[in-house]
Amino acid sequence: MLTINHEEIEGFVEEVRRLYPFFPFVGARLRKDLVWQGHSLGKDDWLLLDLYGTTHDARLFPQPAVFNPKRESSWRNGDFRFIPQGGGRPETNHRCPGEKMTVAILQETLKLICRSRPVRITPADANIPLGSIPASPAPPVSIILAHAEANAVAARFRR
Ligand code: HEM
Repeated sequence: MLTINHEEIEGFVEEVRRLYPFFPFVGARLRKDLVWQGHSLGKDDWLLLDLYGTTHDARLFPQPAVFNPKRESSWRNGDFRFIPQGGGRPETNHRCPGEKMTVAILQETLKLICRSRPVRITPADANIPLGSIPASPAPPVSIILAHAEANAVAARFRR
């Protein structure tokens, strides 16, 4: 069995969300004309917030392609750099109010996988195209837990 403590689990999960944000970007349309940092923007123009680009920006996350669970990124900070589910705080901005729940579900999933080793993961590698929402692996990835396989064998045996 693989042992992993609570802080490590949270760091791992946050790094998964940083590297593979389910929503690569979010969009909005302007309700009125606006000049922002020297750019003239018109009413009804589309604006895209680049979630993927922000969580992969080397100025914010040194060596951004490296999976490093010790970065101390957290939804708790409510900042505008670690924004896999939007920036700021859900009370005052559009940051996803389901983020705490999402992290908790991922933590429980990871614990389940660690408890049930060995697992079979197929395919071993997959691309995550960023052109659609949600951005999910293609082809889809299956994780077979050891006890699930044992149950499947037992079920076949019973028939
Ligand atoms: C994998 C899980 C999830 C992902 C990747 C995700 C991602 C996002 C993103 C990117 C936004 C837009 C943020 C922005 O506009 O800046 C958002 C908004 C929102 N999310 Fe989530 N979310 C997830 C789960 C949930 C859950 C579990 C709930 C509720 C139980 C939830 C409720 C909402 C709501 C209500 C908004 C709109 C907030 C607003 O516009 O003020 N989400 N989410």
